[in-house]
Amino acid sequence: MSALAKNYSRRKISFKKGKGSFLYSTKKKKYLDFVQGIAVNSLGHSNPKLIKAINIQAKKVWHVSNAFIIPEGENLAKKLTKKTFADYVIFQNSGTEAVEAAIKVARKYFYTIGKPYKNRIITIKNSFHGRTMAAIFASGSKKMTEGFGPKITGFDHFKFGDHKTLKKLITKKTAAIMIEDCLGEGGCKLIPDWCLRELRKICNKKKILLIIDSVQSGAGRSGKFFAFEYAKIKPDIAVIAKGLGSGFPIGAVLLNKKTASCMTPGSHGSTFGGNPLAMEVANAVLDEIFKKGFLRSVERSSKYFRNALNKIKEEYPEIIKEIRGIGLLIGLQLYNNQAKFIKNLEDNKLLTIRAAENVVRILPPLNVKKSEIDLAIKIIRKVCKEYK
Ligand SMILES: Cc1ncc(COP(=O)(O)O)c(C=O)c1O
Repeated sequence: MSALAKNYSRRKISFKKGKGSFLYSTKKKKYLDFVQGIAVNSLGHSNPKLIKAINIQAKKVWHVSNAFIIPEGENLAKKLTKKTFADYVIFQNSGTEAVEAAIKVARKYFYTIGKPYKNRIITIKNSFHGRTMAAIFASGSKKMTEGFGPKITGFDHFKFGDHKTLKKLITKKTAAIMIEDCLGEGGCKLIPDWCLRELRKICNKKKILLIIDSVQSGAGRSGKFFAFEYAKIKPDIAVIAKGLGSGFPIGAVLLNKKTASCMTPGSHGSTFGGNPLAMEVANAVLDEIFKKGFLRSVERSSKYFRNALNKIKEEYPEIIKEIRGIGLLIGLQLYNNQAKFIKNLEDNKLLTIRAAENVVRILPPLNVKKSEIDLAIKIIRKVCKEYK
């Protein structure tokens, strides 16, 4: 009997070790892992460069308080600001914590400029921003918020794509629009570039902030560091986590100069956020992701994978409805419930994970090999062929 609370319905499978794109189960079976901790292990399992980085830092210093200067964090923040729209960074330990911090910054910004009434945030109904109290109510999802009242107020919701409602929701109390550029849990639903550009224009016109939650799509998974870079826009605040630590817990809020100006000493903090161990792992991750040609190779792998998946879709149009997502955040939308399909893939030694709207989410490591994509394609085709 497990002593763990039952807030997960876990698959009956566990692992002894991992290497690159593969996981080895306690029952001595080898799986192609295209879940990778749900878009977390960006450089695959047991990456030698990350093992080296964590070991070197572990022998120096694991943790010091943010009451002191942390050079490893200074270095990581410099890397992030050099390569992105951001001028400043706040480090956290997870995606939802970073989302929470982003909400705080947006509200504090308007408070600081003398407009404390501007504190409401508009989000997409049934989007996903994590599991803290503010994040669940930000999502507007009945399933996630049920039983967790009283409601955290301050969020207004519009349906994905319903721009009319979105425009109506903007009032003088609105501080920001917060969206995922690709709704990962929501079914790998990508916000089109034209739409992101429109959102940026609306935010400029109404003098409100644009917050982009890139926790799942960020840190290179799209083929650019941020998926919204394809639309050539800059948010005021962006949030990353997951892939930034490639398995080491970390989150980050990236801020432009304007929004960062409100963050004065004492306004926000975290015991663990930004500690040297996390910072050095993420430094090693970014050294890989920002290496010349790395992101281009993510784009290439994505194109190769998607072409092959589209062929399978043509062969099995009664099973596969749509290939979704961006980069190596891939969604295979089925006509029917995806649970059986995912189980069949697992029985054939390919691990994938569900998302909303009957989607099978496929999340290889960013350094996935062509031969591994070929293996996944072979398994997916076989499962389609045998699917009843
Ligand atoms: C878009 C998005 N935001 C926030 C989160 C929450 O991140 P975490 O689970 O690290 O708290 C997730 C996690 O899946 C996510 O996909």
